Amino acid sequence: MARQWRGLLHEYADRLNITSATPIITLGEGGTPLIPAPALSERTGAKVYVKFEGMNPTGSFKDRGMTMAISKAVEAGAKAVICASTGNTSASAAAYAAYAGITAAVLVPEGKISMGKLSQAVAHNAQILQLQGNFDDCLDIARDLAENYPVHLVNSVNNDRIEGQKTAAYEIVEVLGRAPDFHFIPVGNAGNYTAYHRGYREEITRGATHVLPRMFGFQAAGSAPLVNGAPVLKPETLATAIRIGKPASWDLAIAAKEDSNGYFGAITDEGILAAQRILSADVGVFVEPASAISVAGLLERAEAGAIPKGSVCVLTVTGHGLKDPQYALKRPDGTEVSPEVVAVNTAEIASVLGLAKVK
Ligand code: F0G
Repeated sequence: MARQWRGLLHEYADRLNITSATPIITLGEGGTPLIPAPALSERTGAKVYVKFEGMNPTGSFKDRGMTMAISKAVEAGAKAVICASTGNTSASAAAYAAYAGITAAVLVPEGKISMGKLSQAVAHNAQILQLQGNFDDCLDIARDLAENYPVHLVNSVNNDRIEGQKTAAYEIVEVLGRAPDFHFIPVGNAGNYTAYHRGYREEITRGATHVLPRMFGFQAAGSAPLVNGAPVLKPETLATAIRIGKPASWDLAIAAKEDSNGYFGAITDEGILAAQRILSADVGVFVEPASAISVAGLLERAEAGAIPKGSVCVLTVTGHGLKDPQYALKRPDGTEVSPEVVAVNTAEIASVLGLAKVK
């Protein structure tokens, strides 16, 4: 029988804070594909791989942190968890809480999470509140509630989340036999940026690689506090997953950037959508807009001459395209794509497809 991937906490039990007292709440997360991307290698002269985190159980990388955070919450006796979210964290918290048989309460910014993500939180029976504010307001309230009421916080300010997420770096080193030269990643709260850096550092300590990747993080131009060096009070971007003005892991991210000779860059919404199209049309990987920023960042840095030819580059694409498909159905000029309607007639359809008859 083929061996089935057992989820992070089983696969990496010896490298995480798991004991016999920890109930393992898993949906089989992790073990995601690292896909070579020849079309991006050709464009940039680098050796490019895409770490497709949309292949996790709820369709985003959040499941890596959530298996750990919910398992530790249940170990600590929690009956309810809470999180602030731009959508993916709420979907993941709701699913893992459902599996564990505990309550998930989620705070989301009103009208600013995609329908796919909202439908997940609803399906998994979370208590969902839309706040009349942005993500940063939601996180302030979630922290306040966790401090003063019997609810366990599962945002990435909870270190268990970062611990789970760092395992993606382990997987990359295992597949490549070394760490990449550059790691490109979207940045919102900068929890994932911090987690990969931690994972790679541990791989060096363990002797699994000698390379510390330069951590290249990208934010949307309308919500780029780490690039600007100051919080953004009214963050705006169509990439709602990373519409964050006050990154919770600010200090950890700056430390990771300094340690790895890293970089923070900003990409316009147009640049994000162009990269999303390139990835889906030329590589066959469909991601949500926020995730495409890794691709946009690579193309921008390669264009700027910052990526030496032959460099090994890994791009984390954080969430599946089905999470937020609306932009894929639009052309670059904003008009809707609507497939042509035809009669049930082979000859007519062949002619529309431009096919010449061979027999
Ligand atoms: N990509 C996606 C698809 C995300 O959902 C997020 C964050 C990020 C990137 C950024 O990760 O915050 O660790 O820097 N989403 C959070 C949420 C905020 O609530 O789902 P980060």
